[in-house]
Amino acid sequence: MVVANRLPVDLERTEDGNQRWTQSPGGLVSALEPFLRSRNGAWVGWPGVPDVEVDEFSDDGLVLHPVRLSSAEVRDYYEGFSNATLWPLYHDVVARPIFDRSWWDAYVRVNQRFAEAAAAVAGDGATVWVQDYQLQLVPTMLRELRPDLRIGFFLHIPFPPVELFMQLPWRAEIVRGLIGADLVGFHRPGGAQNFLWLARQLIGLEPSRGSVGVRSRPGMVQVDDRTVRVGAFPISIDAAGLDKLSRTRSVIDRAAQVREELGSPKKILLGIDRLDYTKGIDLRLQAFHELLQEGRVEPDDVTFIQLATPSRERVEHYQQMRVDIEQIVGRINGEFGRVGHTVLHYLHQSIDRSELAAMFLAADVMVVTPLRDGMNLVCKEYVAARHDLGGALLLSEFAGAAAELSSAFLVNPHDLDGVKNALEQAIKLDPAEGRRRMRALRRQVLTHDVDRWARSFLEALGAGPTT
Ligand code: ADP
Ligand code: F6P
Repeated sequence: MVVANRLPVDLERTEDGNQRWTQSPGGLVSALEPFLRSRNGAWVGWPGVPDVEVDEFSDDGLVLHPVRLSSAEVRDYYEGFSNATLWPLYHDVVARPIFDRSWWDAYVRVNQRFAEAAAAVAGDGATVWVQDYQLQLVPTMLRELRPDLRIGFFLHIPFPPVELFMQLPWRAEIVRGLIGADLVGFHRPGGAQNFLWLARQLIGLEPSRGSVGVRSRPGMVQVDDRTVRVGAFPISIDAAGLDKLSRTRSVIDRAAQVREELGSPKKILLGIDRLDYTKGIDLRLQAFHELLQEGRVEPDDVTFIQLATPSRERVEHYQQMRVDIEQIVGRINGEFGRVGHTVLHYLHQSIDRSELAAMFLAADVMVVTPLRDGMNLVCKEYVAARHDLGGALLLSEFAGAAAELSSAFLVNPHDLDGVKNALEQAIKLDPAEGRRRMRALRRQVLTHDVDRWARSFLEALGAGPTT
């Protein structure tokens, strides 16, 4: 059973007063949903709109248990503590975190509600897998309610350096909340090691001292009569599924059609993200802008497509960033577009999976430049879609995925000249060199898929055979 802030589907109210379910945004759902569906699992989460009471229901192999949040809780627990305190703090303080005591109270209250919902639904001795930064108190709360359960926790975003975590007024409470799990998982060994250090510093536990490996050598902490494991499990995607989808006739035809509709430019550049200030959308557009200004890239030769899923639209930082990005888009098109050729296409929309696959297949350069990202699944999706060994991946060193995708063009997103040079190199890449790089990337992504991630986590949790 999975417990996550969001259900895998979001309730949407349409203009005519009806409602419908759509896929929830973000990497957590992209990764976990196919895995859990294939195992007829259960999912406890919020349906994405405030103040609605929805009964438990089944959806194509999944049993969904909605948790109700009031408008005030969405404001204080979700937009406030989760997304204006923890999110910026855990992403290296790229925006200033706000420490508000009433938000913390709401966070505690809502975590308790999720723990109670999970306790009410889980069968005897069940395995419950709690997800992400919104629910860090749930493991201990759930253990108090249901000591019979096996509890795992996985953090989908980076776990910060200890100096930054120590800023949090409720730092010891968070560590105590997580330590209720039997296994606490992070994307990278560094996150696991930071957490072990904090368990010693903040709550006086005695963690093991050796270094944590990837999917191996978890750290151990003794908590009363329990041994808690702390490990690194880099998440991934349904690579075979996307590979297969991108080989279908309709996706291949659509990719060709996209290129044609754009006026058959020599090179298509692509960015796909939630519209989030951690994703470095502004700086990649700035790098593109400067390359055009310096004449290193000809406007008639290239088209940049930036797709941005609307995200957290009531949080101030997100509103400001949207204004900034839309201004840059206007400036680039104003200076370098001409009638009949738009140099930068910006869509503030979500697209479906087949269209996504077609975009990946059409793009000559995939541009992924987060200032900090726990993993980043988009870059792995691009690689999985490129069965033709075409395309090039430009990837920030500050995405968790960079540790696995060393054949990408790796860049420091804070170094604008470095990003420009790498972008120019990727645009002008020799096809044989491109194929060599893509072959190496695909070897990694296709053999390290989401199934392997989930199995390695559940095996370390001692949850028995998972096939
Ligand atoms: P995050 O979890 O921070 O949003 P990830 O890169 O890990 O970032 O995951 C994002 C997921 O959302 C990917 O599966 C990606 O394909 C999907 N996605 C992002 N933007 C769009 C979009 N505009 N339309 C459809 N899917 C999108
Ligand atoms: O992993 C990052 C994450 O925050 C997930 O927890 C979340 O489901 C996703 O991104 C999308 O964000 P939100 O649920 O705030 O729309």
